[in-house]
Amino acid sequence: MIKFPANFMWGAATSAPQSEGYALSYGKSASTWDQWYQMAPEKFKKDQGPDSACDTYRLYSEDVANMTKIGMNSFRTSIAWTRLIPDGKHVNQVAVDYYRDYFSQLKAAGITPIINLFHFDMPWWLMEKGGWETRESVDAFAFYAKTAFELFGDLVDRWTTFNEPIVHIECGYLTGYHYPDIVDFKKAVQVGYHTLMAHTAAVAEFKKVKPDGQIGIILNITPAYAKSDAPADQVAKEKADLLLAKSFLDPTVLGKIPDALVELLAENDLLPVIEAADQQLIAANCVDFVGVNYYQPLRVQAPENPQVPAVTTDDLYLPYIWPERKINPYRGWEIYPEALYDVAMMMKDQYRNIPWYVSENGMGVADEERFMDDHGQIQDDYRIEFMTEHLEQLHRAIQDGSSCFGYHTWTFNDCWSWLNGYQNRYGFYRVDLDDNAKRTMKKSGEWFRQLSQNNGF
Ligand code: BG6
Repeated sequence: MIKFPANFMWGAATSAPQSEGYALSYGKSASTWDQWYQMAPEKFKKDQGPDSACDTYRLYSEDVANMTKIGMNSFRTSIAWTRLIPDGKHVNQVAVDYYRDYFSQLKAAGITPIINLFHFDMPWWLMEKGGWETRESVDAFAFYAKTAFELFGDLVDRWTTFNEPIVHIECGYLTGYHYPDIVDFKKAVQVGYHTLMAHTAAVAEFKKVKPDGQIGIILNITPAYAKSDAPADQVAKEKADLLLAKSFLDPTVLGKIPDALVELLAENDLLPVIEAADQQLIAANCVDFVGVNYYQPLRVQAPENPQVPAVTTDDLYLPYIWPERKINPYRGWEIYPEALYDVAMMMKDQYRNIPWYVSENGMGVADEERFMDDHGQIQDDYRIEFMTEHLEQLHRAIQDGSSCFGYHTWTFNDCWSWLNGYQNRYGFYRVDLDDNAKRTMKKSGEWFRQLSQNNGF
């Protein structure tokens, strides 16, 4: 029998833009996603835009009841910046009422809310000024964060600033899956730096408004695995680790941007514009905990003829496909639970054994209706197996001293996922878009209830 520590957090995560719907209603202004969808709906799978999110704005009471049914004792979602402060200055009371009622219902049901501030949803009014490219974004985010802490701090003790900052940086400025969909390494680094400073400013506000609370950040982390022991592959691995993991882990947990990262950026003419007091602010505003999103490992090899200075990350490290890999055939991602052990031990050994939790882990499946039985239930044994294997590795790391306090899956309801629309289903509840967003529990929901009731398996 595998038992997890007492008071372990069992739950799931989603985000406001992926679950709420009503993208331009009830006083909400446009985010980059809402605007991009207006401009280029053909980019979105099956033309499904942010309004097709799974209707939580209307159905949140039912959702809270459904969370209870599967034994969740905690849940992460986000606030939509564009709903709470549509013009960046004035609070939308309709949004305040909505979020207060939602969070109160969670608490009344014994479900600890973890509330995140930014899940890729940049307000359009700020994007028009450059978004994270401008330093102005730091102050705008700090104001939003302070407002949220003041409005909901009595209901929410655990907060996070950003979900996967590396993703909006990479996808927006290097690989083209997020707006503004450009390739510009220098801008990507500046965007990353302003994101870090926005996080730092939000933590500083938090310490003033809610000194008794806990503040963290959600990072998509995996230690990179090199193709071989050859020095060039090892250097590629170090560069990937610096850019993708240490870039946010070091300043947010240890209070300092790594010297090796500064050197790497300088060598490639990528240093961002900084302000004199920034390092002091970073050092003074470390997080209380970290959320780690883990889906698949990162495998890298040395690039063959890299350009210097680097134009894209391909000039620093290249993706490598491990021939022996086990694959999720329904999403194409490698399945490698051992990386969760490695990341857990990395948190212990390199990041002062800070309290952390798995803030997302899950298995995306395309065309999941093919696994529906005669009673209309999705028989997702593959997902149960995926999670069980990851939990075994997590448990091993906890036995070895890593301070992990919870496991959240992605996600609770099948939800809308950016350009991918509803292609990849991850939920414990199936959402039927043709039947008023009707929720039906999958087999994994029943499994999760047992897991949480037994605090193990
Ligand atoms: C996570 C993000 O990395 O991946 C989510 O935090 C996203 O926002 C999830 O929905 C699944 O992504 P995909 O591409 O498989 O739908």
